[in-house]
Amino acid sequence: MSSFSHIHGNISRWYAKEGRKDLPWRNTDDAYHIWLSEVMLQQTQVKTVLERYYFPFLEKFPTLEALGKAPLDEVLKMWEGLGYYNRAKNLHKTAQMLTQAQGAAPALPSDINALIKLPGIGKNTAHAVAAFAFKKPVPVMEANVRRILCRIHVMESADEKRLWEIAYDMVDKQNPFVYNQAMMDIGATLCTPKAPRCEACPLESICRGKAEPEHYPQKKRRTVPTREQHIMIHLYNDKLALSKRQGKFLHGLWGFDAVEVPLCAAEEIGEVIHAYTHFKLRCKVYLYDELEPAHNHYFTPEEIKKLAISKVDEKILQLYLRSHDV
Ligand code: ADE
Repeated sequence: MSSFSHIHGNISRWYAKEGRKDLPWRNTDDAYHIWLSEVMLQQTQVKTVLERYYFPFLEKFPTLEALGKAPLDEVLKMWEGLGYYNRAKNLHKTAQMLTQAQGAAPALPSDINALIKLPGIGKNTAHAVAAFAFKKPVPVMEANVRRILCRIHVMESADEKRLWEIAYDMVDKQNPFVYNQAMMDIGATLCTPKAPRCEACPLESICRGKAEPEHYPQKKRRTVPTREQHIMIHLYNDKLALSKRQGKFLHGLWGFDAVEVPLCAAEEIGEVIHAYTHFKLRCKVYLYDELEPAHNHYFTPEEIKKLAISKVDEKILQLYLRSHDV
């Protein structure tokens, strides 16, 4: 019998009572649906994924094959506002690769090493797909689980190699699905970064950090730089010029032009600010009415609604619409 069998019992009893059992990706065997949910949840909260993105995406692309055969623009449109657009591009690339290699009814591999080789599938996502879609006896390691393990083992900083060893040792090999889903829920609802509720935790008896849980792991203080940009909205006949982004940043999405120096004749209409993980973006926005069309693509605000644009460009568009109302 595993030395954790008592804890496994506690965890599955807790999950039966308190777990978020009705989440749609926990009630399907479809590996494609599970993979999609894991990718969406990598950097986004359950609530947002559930309320705005998971179902519409699956309605539009119900199978791996449908996703593999779709144009990237349509995929990005369904991802609009969710951020970290490389996730969508990698999902699409992986679906394309599998569809091209396997033909009709392509499937994701069940093997962790094969999963990790696919674009956008890292160690945790590969483990999650293996555990949830293929019921493999392996642990998952997202941020909530990482925090629990650090606290149990009084680790001030997360040592990845050690954490994975601990996680493999501790996973309930009879019931990896419930164990892993429960661990994420315990991290999200009890073992929270601030004011954890240790008295209600099914892991309390083995937790060495419970005397001062907030001490583990230590927060890394990150000060993010601010990037300043000048954004020019070029207008021609009340249509706005947008171009498809080419560089590394937000590649493939449509957006307004950033310029080094705004045109003298441009009118400043305001500022938008957006916080990314690694920097803050502050954009001064200018409007310039063209006498001759100098750009390749112009759109009405209605037409822009059909394009995939980033949150910042959406804020810029709203600023423009407000400044036009008055
Ligand atoms: N975050 C990552 N995977 C998740 C899952 N399966 N359920 C809830 N949150 C998650």
